[in-house]
Amino acid sequence: MRYDFNFYNPTKIYFGKDSLSHLEDELAHYGKNVLFVYGGGSIKKIGLYDQVMEILKKAKKSVVELSGVMPNPTYKKMMEGASLVEQHHIDFILAVGGGSVIDCAKGISVAAYQENPWKKYWIDNEEVKHTTVPVGSILTMVGTGSEMNGGSVITNEEEKLKKGRVFDQNVYPKFSILNPTYTFTVSKYQMLSGIFDIFSHLMEQYFSNDDDNVSDDLMEALMHSLIKNTYKAVENPLDYEVRSNIEWISTLALNGLTKVGKTQDWQVHSIEHQLGAYTDCAHGMGLAAISTPYYRFIMQYAPYKFAKFAKEVFRIPSENKDEQTLAKLGIDALANFIKEVGMCTTLKELGATKEMLPLIANSTDLGGGYHDLAREEVLQILEACYE
Ligand code: NZQ
Ligand code: ZN
Repeated sequence: MRYDFNFYNPTKIYFGKDSLSHLEDELAHYGKNVLFVYGGGSIKKIGLYDQVMEILKKAKKSVVELSGVMPNPTYKKMMEGASLVEQHHIDFILAVGGGSVIDCAKGISVAAYQENPWKKYWIDNEEVKHTTVPVGSILTMVGTGSEMNGGSVITNEEEKLKKGRVFDQNVYPKFSILNPTYTFTVSKYQMLSGIFDIFSHLMEQYFSNDDDNVSDDLMEALMHSLIKNTYKAVENPLDYEVRSNIEWISTLALNGLTKVGKTQDWQVHSIEHQLGAYTDCAHGMGLAAISTPYYRFIMQYAPYKFAKFAKEVFRIPSENKDEQTLAKLGIDALANFIKEVGMCTTLKELGATKEMLPLIANSTDLGGGYHDLAREEVLQILEACYE
């Protein structure tokens, strides 16, 4: 492990078909006033809303609801929640939904009682020194890892900026309930979007540095397992074992475990966030479209790592192949995987127009793993996957 690290993750996970049975005991640790945060109605369709309400009632909580949290949650929606927290003296926030709902709940917990929280915490990245309202989650859609991390990605529609902020352990969910059967009703499109989000989280952490890091070994295993389970999930979305494998890979991929002792990249996410700010596309589908041209471009700076990726993740035989050839075959296999399972490959199908490309490139945060991209290079990558 090349770099020193501290690792601490305080989120308690309840995983499996019976995991909701732990909610009542968890609620007992918090005060009476609960803000129940959810999205556009999927939790009502699957009967989870009624089940949660019943448990809240049994626990004698006074419940205030914030519904309608949209995919790519907006600053306005988050502030609506923050004012409910202040108005009703909320003691605990319960988020039930996908990454957008959980991110919004964490954002509310930080933003309540604060002046201009957008600038302080999402633009200036100020440390959170005040006491935040505790959050717990029940996950219904897999991909972001929000159930076990401090991430809160919020879109400021007026400023056309989508910004991810990673808060420290105080803002992590206190507990998260993961029942893979809740994910059975997620559409194929959203399931695949979530799956590519997981894959991208692993690649963003994997493609940096050339040391012999156990974090990389772990990620190779997770990526390989994800590919295997994705083909099975496309074939049979109701296979519990498959969906539970994908759910746990998702949590492990962004709960801090796989990034320790190494540097990371996150350039694909930065580009996607601005793509999302302009198009409101599904996060994982945006990542899927951008990834192939990005990695084809970056490969020249670290062919050894891309060759390792080909060999260990896609299990491409390495005999009689030089490093460059193997590296290229790995990216071809990635492109093939994206196409074969039905993920998006162009920005056009995600709602982008040609005129948006320079605007997206100019507002993307620049950084990188093996190579810091220049703005013109971001534009080249966007143009390469436009149509
Ligand atoms: O709103 P409802 O009706 O619940 O419908 C949602 C939504 O339309 C639906 N859905 C969720 N569970 C369902 C379901 N439909 C049927 N059955 C169910 N069981 O799925 C749609 C998408 O949900 P959303 O929460 O937006 O998806 P996801 O989990 O992919 O979250 C995306 C957001 O998370 C951010 C993304 O940028 C994006 O804003 N991210 C958060 C991260 C973090 N916290 O660490 C990291 C990620 O890289 C990512 O940036
Ligand atoms: Zn992501």
